[in-house]
Amino acid sequence: MTPRMILALNVIALLGLTQSAEWSYDGKTAPSYWKDQYPKCGGQNQSPIDLPANSKLVYDASLGKFNFTGYSNMTANSPILKNNGHTVQLDINDTSVGKTYMTGGGLVGKYVALQLHFHWGPDNKRGSEHTFRGREFPLELHIVHIKDNMTLADAKNVYDGLAVLGIFFLVDGENNTDIQPLVEALRDIRHYGQSRPLNLDFSRLMPAHVTEFYRYNGSLTTPTCDEAVIWTLFEDKITISDAQMREFRALYEKGVSANETKEPLDMNYRPVLPLNSRTVKKSFDKAIPDSWHWGYHGYEAPENWPLYYEECGRAAQSPIDIPHPNKPEMVFDSSMNLDTLTFINYDQAFNGSLSNNGHAVQIDIAPSAGLAIKNGGLPGTFRAAQFHLHWGPNDQSGSEHTLQGKMYPMEIHIVHYNEKYGSVAGAVSQPDGLAVVGFFYQVSPVPNGKYSRIVSELPKIAYKNSPKVEIPNINMVDLTHQDLRLSETRGKHLPFYRYKGSLTTPGCAEVVTWTVMEPKIQISASQIDAFREMLHITSGPVTHEDKMVTNYRPVQPLNYRAVYMSLDMKTTTGTSDASSLRAIIVIPILALWSSMW
Ligand SMILES: *[C@@H]1O[C@H](CO)[C@@H](O)[C@H](O)[C@H]1NC(C)=O
Ligand SMILES: *[C@@H]1O[C@H](CO)[C@@H](O)[C@H](O)[C@H]1NC(C)=O
Ligand SMILES: *[C@@H]1O[C@H](CO)[C@@H](O)[C@H](O)[C@H]1NC(C)=O
Ligand SMILES: *[C@@H]1O[C@H](CO)[C@@H](O)[C@H](O)[C@H]1NC(C)=O
Ligand SMILES: *[C@@H]1O[C@H](CO)[C@@H](O)[C@H](O)[C@H]1NC(C)=O
Ligand SMILES: *[C@@H]1O[C@H](CO)[C@@H](O)[C@H](O)[C@H]1NC(C)=O
Ligand SMILES: *[C@@H]1O[C@H](CO)[C@@H](O)[C@H](O)[C@H]1NC(C)=O
Ligand SMILES: *[C@@H]1O[C@H](CO)[C@@H](O)[C@H](O)[C@H]1NC(C)=O
Ligand SMILES: [Zn+2]
Ligand SMILES: [Zn+2]
Repeated sequence: MTPRMILALNVIALLGLTQSAEWSYDGKTAPSYWKDQYPKCGGQNQSPIDLPANSKLVYDASLGKFNFTGYSNMTANSPILKNNGHTVQLDINDTSVGKTYMTGGGLVGKYVALQLHFHWGPDNKRGSEHTFRGREFPLELHIVHIKDNMTLADAKNVYDGLAVLGIFFLVDGENNTDIQPLVEALRDIRHYGQSRPLNLDFSRLMPAHVTEFYRYNGSLTTPTCDEAVIWTLFEDKITISDAQMREFRALYEKGVSANETKEPLDMNYRPVLPLNSRTVKKSFDKAIPDSWHWGYHGYEAPENWPLYYEECGRAAQSPIDIPHPNKPEMVFDSSMNLDTLTFINYDQAFNGSLSNNGHAVQIDIAPSAGLAIKNGGLPGTFRAAQFHLHWGPNDQSGSEHTLQGKMYPMEIHIVHYNEKYGSVAGAVSQPDGLAVVGFFYQVSPVPNGKYSRIVSELPKIAYKNSPKVEIPNINMVDLTHQDLRLSETRGKHLPFYRYKGSLTTPGCAEVVTWTVMEPKIQISASQIDAFREMLHITSGPVTHEDKMVTNYRPVQPLNYRAVYMSLDMKTTTGTSDASSLRAIIVIPILALWSSMW
């Protein structure tokens, strides 16, 4: 409890006031006590709820399209915005009731719009009433409708007397201009009881995709908590800036006595209640709705991938931080014969096919080139299909794996499929399906000439899904490390780290045997800059936000896994200084290999 809340309670106690018919969001009249005064709040079909994972949602084809009438023409109706002490509410002027209504969406008959209001919290991490797979949003809008032939008293007595649309907000860097008139009007109604007219176009508060929604039977989320609401929660979200959110928190709640309005109204959401025996339906027949795309920032960012792709939330994910050789989770096991890793045809020229898939730059490797890897503890022979790159906004970040906490500016992934599954598509569902080889890049003062052809072609594929560009006669030895060809001819290897993990992009399938190489590839800062000019968009004018400046997933917990070293790098001196360790062990070995070559 905050000092403010304690003070408020003390004032109540001192004055000997009882608030038998009052309710609030904190103290002795908080949601957990509502049922004492309002028995319906203790029912089995209460709202809000946590919207469950895909596997628990039921697709219902009869949840068709909504038809909204009058929503874009509210200005004629002079709606009134008021601070009612619990929330900010926009009431539709009585004279217009019946002109703004919705049909469809699986609802029977017409539902007439009555009012809309908001729920929010003290910071951007909470505030919504409904939650989505445990995730809270900073703001939730409710547009309340009543069945057209009913009075409010009638409507509260039937399970479908009311229909509420719920819309989640996400915090974005820029003001949402659609809600700015409402946000500015909040300044005129800071205190409980204040009101003003506001001509607001309801349709501008609706998300872009209204065909994708969740549906369940529930209740009002404030006393008297009548179980009379058909809930619709839209999958698509709308945005709000932090500055706009602050205007909601600058309102004042209902005071102890009529004109006392000292308490900020900064938390007015009811926590989620059990679903019990109810079903939550969804209007779309696919696991991932059209309105959601994965990416690397905002709501699309890696932290949210598990909300839509459950496998991204599992325990054996990639990338990882590769621990210091002296850590117990770093294992050297000579019986694994990791040092027999063999790169086949890595020095053979092939015609690469360069593309931008909106998430990364990729080069497809023609199967006829015959590039493959085998031995070295791999469960079979794995054929190379493509390589792609991950990078970041500056030279201090960009790699997916990190080495003892250190991030590199770029990382290449050479993706191979187990030849017994015939293709990447066939292998991606098999536990031993894929083997990916990763190399880190280091910034060098001079450009790496082996990359100049790729870098010079990048502008041609700047837009996502641009036609592929052929790059004839490239080879992986040039692009990675000269000594890879030693592997085949003399059975030697470059040191590497091995672990079992996943794809680092959705669906994050845990089917990858990872080989992260210790030697680094050199590339210049201006060459990396060329990758940062790639775009997420398929066409049109370009703003800074459209550039693919970040496309790496942060490291995931190692959990129970071990990481294997291809040669024993443990030291007995007790030092944990990584750079000195590499200086002692790796450099002399590389020097030896170089001299052999
Ligand atoms: C939507 O409602 C309007 C007004 O009632 C009606 O004219 C229109 O045909 C409806 N459209 C659909 C697709 O049902
Ligand atoms: C909006 O409402 C006004 C006043 O009722 C009316 O004159 C106008 O035709 C309406 N516009 C639309 C697009 O429905
Ligand atoms: C409702 O709208 C009418 C017509 O615009 C207006 O005259 C009236 O004052 C409004 N009612 C309220 C309560 O503001
Ligand atoms: C309202 O209409 C529904 C059918 O849509 C009907 O079942 C119900 O009895 C009506 N209620 C009242 C109060 O007229
Ligand atoms: C809501 O309750 C009604 C009546 O029991 C039922 O027909 C309907 O399927 C329920 N809706 C959902 C989404 O479960
Ligand atoms: C964004 O909204 C806030 C809150 O209304 C306002 O103070 C600020 O001036 C707005 N910023 C811009 C750039 O419009
Ligand atoms: C509250 O303030 C209004 C004017 O702002 C005044 O008319 C009213 O008497 C006040 N009520 C109380 C209980 O002080
Ligand atoms: C690469 O493409 C060229 C034509 O651009 C062709 O002559 C050559 O045979 C191809 N090389 C391979 C390895 O397919
Ligand atoms: Zn509400
Ligand atoms: Zn990758």
